[in-house]
Amino acid sequence: MDLGLQGKVALVTGASRGIGKAVAQTLINEGCRVAICARDGERLRAAVHDLSHGKNNGDVIGVSTDVTDEAAVQQFVATAHKTFGRIDILVNNAGTHLRGTVDTTTLDILNRQLRDKVFGFFAMIQAVLPIMRGQKDGRIVNVIGQAARHPHPDRFPSGVTNAACMALTKSVADAVARDNIRVNAVCPQYIESELLASLIDKEMRERKVDRATASAGFSRANPLGRTGTPEEVADLVSFMVSDSANFIAGSAVSIDGGYHRYVFG
Ligand SMILES: NC(=O)c1ccc[n+]([C@@H]2O[C@H](COP(=O)([O-])OP(=O)(O)OC[C@H]3O[C@@H](n4cnc5c(N)ncnc54)[C@H](OP(=O)(O)O)[C@@H]3O)[C@@H](O)[C@H]2O)c1
Repeated sequence: MDLGLQGKVALVTGASRGIGKAVAQTLINEGCRVAICARDGERLRAAVHDLSHGKNNGDVIGVSTDVTDEAAVQQFVATAHKTFGRIDILVNNAGTHLRGTVDTTTLDILNRQLRDKVFGFFAMIQAVLPIMRGQKDGRIVNVIGQAARHPHPDRFPSGVTNAACMALTKSVADAVARDNIRVNAVCPQYIESELLASLIDKEMRERKVDRATASAGFSRANPLGRTGTPEEVADLVSFMVSDSANFIAGSAVSIDGGYHRYVFG
């Protein structure tokens, strides 16, 4: 399917690895010019090199940015706008997954998780909205996570944070729909990235099991019986920001191998 993304300009946060990098690559393959950010400048430069296949022709730029820093976010968006002249797409992806229960989660942990995703997504959206409103066109996808729909006792920080991201998505989507800006979310679960690898390592340490046993716990959790790939999430995000999804707004699409239970929700 031709997604009609040729010539569009996309911002992808947290794109030095994992899901964000795969999203950036897929959008580039569809003909987008892309600006990416992450905190670690060296890994970001390496990602820009990979994504531009060593050509460094200016169609991919990286700006080292912590999305919890409002001034840095403004600088990232301004740099991308100045370089490319417009901003059609924002993919809010930067974030992490902190585990803990109501007993073990400290205010500091909860604060970190909320700042990375809720505050980071919000700051990025506020920064791009004036540009998208001026264009009378924009597409925003928030990469949230199934903990929003399925909060677990041992994933308290990410459950709370992802639920807030869902509310943020719907609230903003309704507010900007008449400006022809579509805001949606995708909810992945158990996607093969460094984040998942770190969770598997933690399981091995805490439950004193080998890697195969720890990994199986994640792939057994869904009906398809496997983990997903960043590229599979990237294909969904690319569809959601394309003209083929023009009548989809304020939705949150699961990509989790069938893990979710709320088929009517
Ligand atoms: N993998 C899964 O199974 C899964 C499931 C549910 C939800 N998700 C969500 O999907 C998103 C991507 O996950 P992933 O698995 O690809 O994670 P990952 O491999 O850990 O990659 C995270 C990316 O975000 C960047 N980042 C983190 N905090 C940032 C900040 N404050 N400012 C700017 N960049 C930041 C990281 O680079 P730096 O560290 O250099 O900043 C990195 O590029 C996250 O929001 C995560 O919560 C993932």
